[in-house]
Amino acid sequence: MSAQNAGGQFLYLSRADVASAGLDVRTMIGLLETAFREKGGARIEMPPKPGIHTQPDAFLHAMPAYIPAMKSAGIKWVGGYPENHKRGLPYITGLLVLNDVETGLPYAVMDCTWITAHRTAAASALSAKFLARPDSCTVGILACGVQGRSHLEALAALFPVTRVFAYDTRREVQDQYAVDMHAKYAFDVLGVDNAKAAVVESDLVVTAGPILKHPDPPIQAGWLRPGGFASAVDFDSYWTGAALAEFDKLTTDDHAQFQYYKALGYFQQTPNPCSDLGEIVAGLKPGRERADERTLAINLGLALDDMAVAPEVFRLARQKNLGTWLPL
Ligand SMILES: NC(=O)c1ccc[n+]([C@@H]2O[C@H](COP(=O)([O-])OP(=O)(O)OC[C@H]3O[C@@H](n4cnc5c(N)ncnc54)[C@H](O)[C@@H]3O)[C@@H](O)[C@H]2O)c1
Repeated sequence: MSAQNAGGQFLYLSRADVASAGLDVRTMIGLLETAFREKGGARIEMPPKPGIHTQPDAFLHAMPAYIPAMKSAGIKWVGGYPENHKRGLPYITGLLVLNDVETGLPYAVMDCTWITAHRTAAASALSAKFLARPDSCTVGILACGVQGRSHLEALAALFPVTRVFAYDTRREVQDQYAVDMHAKYAFDVLGVDNAKAAVVESDLVVTAGPILKHPDPPIQAGWLRPGGFASAVDFDSYWTGAALAEFDKLTTDDHAQFQYYKALGYFQQTPNPCSDLGEIVAGLKPGRERADERTLAINLGLALDDMAVAPEVFRLARQKNLGTWLPL
């Protein structure tokens, strides 16, 4: 029996426990860099995520991955429900199970809300590390929800951010975001009246609204200036076909999953990605090559991201005696 579950027990970590573990964003970006290097070298196992759909534009996805170099294996069972805010519930919720790589036994079950919020932003920041101009200092945040918050933290960890343009269709959410982010980081945070104003002066643009199967995207060709980088964690819901066609490099985090979603009806106006993040991190495909390139990361969110960071959350939680041990 391995050390992780020597007593036939697993550790349950609530949402608060996971947050209290205190995994910092720079460490997370580093863990993801290792994981994506392994992926670029084809040394991981990660089947495309199957899902079920109990509401329009909602999903429940099963996301398993194994990263041998990190001795990490497990699965996330995650839901995304765009209407949940009307009930005071998070858009993204779910559970994550870690399995011992030698015995297969589960040794941890944890809430995945915090991990999903932060690993997604860390993956965008990792894409930006390779695809954005290092001197990028203005950020456009379109949709000021959970991802809008975590993305600003992750980008600020790598870039000399001074000014943020924030846009949300719910004015009260946008206003609160501006207040909170200014208090936390002391950047200029300007709430803007429309999507265009959040894009046109920004070096780094994040779109994180609802994922829609039949979107009516607002961002037009010419809005993102040359040299800009964008991360779309809401698939193609925000960018028109013409704006997408304008990118010099359009990347994703996994070609197979991109094609899987395309077959399901997403990305009908989106050119095929020229590279994925694993190929870029492993040096098989180039990142940014010129200062005036427009670059885009459409990271779909991978089980790899979760399995890169969850063991470290577990390790920190054990160090701090967080969570509840339960019998198998
Ligand atoms: N790719 C990934 O890895 C990944 C991971 C997690 C979440 N996501 C996606 O990120 C998106 C945001 O998730 P979240 O947890 O931050 O949700 P959230 O509910 O916390 O935030 C969404 C925000 O979008 C705002 N909004 C709705 N329509 C908008 C529009 N057209 N323009 C601007 N703002 C708009 C809402 O008012 C809300 O504040 C979702 O689409 C989710 O599926 C992607």
